[in-house]
Amino acid sequence: MYSASKDRYEKMKYRRCGRSGLLLPEVSFGLWQNFSLEKTLEEQKEILFAAFDAGITHFDLANNYGHPANGMAEENFGRVMRDEFRPYRDEMVISTKAGYDMWEGPYGNWGSRKYLIASLDQSLKRMGLDYVDIFYHHRPDPETPLEETMGALSDIVRQGKALYVGISNYGPEETEKAVAILRANGTPCLIHQVRYNMFERAPEKGLFPVLEREGVGCICFSPLAQGALTGKYLKGIEAGTRASRAGSTLKERYLSPEKLRTVEQLSRTAAERGQTMAQLALSWVLRRREVTSVLIGASSTAQLKENLAVISAPGFTEKEENEITDILEGKWEND
Ligand SMILES: NC(=O)c1ccc[n+]([C@@H]2O[C@H](COP(=O)([O-])OP(=O)(O)OC[C@H]3O[C@@H](n4cnc5c(N)ncnc54)[C@H](OP(=O)(O)O)[C@@H]3O)[C@@H](O)[C@H]2O)c1
Repeated sequence: MYSASKDRYEKMKYRRCGRSGLLLPEVSFGLWQNFSLEKTLEEQKEILFAAFDAGITHFDLANNYGHPANGMAEENFGRVMRDEFRPYRDEMVISTKAGYDMWEGPYGNWGSRKYLIASLDQSLKRMGLDYVDIFYHHRPDPETPLEETMGALSDIVRQGKALYVGISNYGPEETEKAVAILRANGTPCLIHQVRYNMFERAPEKGLFPVLEREGVGCICFSPLAQGALTGKYLKGIEAGTRASRAGSTLKERYLSPEKLRTVEQLSRTAAERGQTMAQLALSWVLRRREVTSVLIGASSTAQLKENLAVISAPGFTEKEENEITDILEGKWEND
């Protein structure tokens, strides 16, 4: 029987999520990949226990996580919840989402009230939970009135099926509108889940100022650009890595010759700071005051441990920050 490490809360730092009462760990853990048939349940447990033992209290899921079938990640997490994690439920922040294609017909996708409420009921069953801590609308729906989607989120909170609600992949203007509706409904938007990493900096200009002004927390997914920012692809695509798997978008998104050159240069900065490339990439995301948590994935406990060292990493000097910006903007080679 699993028994959590006694010193887990000494190892992690926690940040307040926007202007809410909730603290989240600086590093949170997502189950998008590696938690269905890719690994045995024992291997999955090993990673989840290592995460919780390190003070990671926040686990992120979605209705559609799992290969080959949507929902498998929630089912497996439910098994771990039932058999091992149950005594720790009140120490955990568990999130799920709906917004992408989940079941056949017109009610299994996007942002209708019909879809969101049915989907959360299914997620709760798969995970064996009475409620989730955070329920997200996973992506904006251009056709459903925002009032309907946000109204469904608010009702879900009133029904006690989620404690807080959030949005993901919403642009700055859509975010402002959604936040205003949720506030008027009396169920404020807790958090925005956004793709932000050294290759994807758009939120700095548009979204971050909105989140700060509105007091909404921010959790950044794919902070390692799905592994590209660990430097491991500088040696090519090895078997077993995410980029080697069928259907992966990693290669076209993050492994162009220019991006690989950028990672090569950043790796030198990382070494000068006494960090691995992965640790540099995570420190860089966490340097922003708008960011509550980095939402990582890992396919082994070794990766997780390497990444967790970011908790005690030093901040950036102005010189380091400028050097990194120059590398990211492609100015470095011309100097
Ligand atoms: N809201 C959304 O639309 C959305 C979208 C995507 C993700 N998410 C959430 O964000 C979570 C994290 O996303 P992500 O998995 O793309 O994050 P990530 O942390 O950028 O990438 C994780 C992957 O990188 C590799 N990796 C991690 N640490 C490593 C290390 N130290 N050395 C070498 N390789 C390492 C592993 O892949 P391999 O070992 O398999 O190569 C690992 O599975 C997801 O689980 C999900 O919860 C949300």
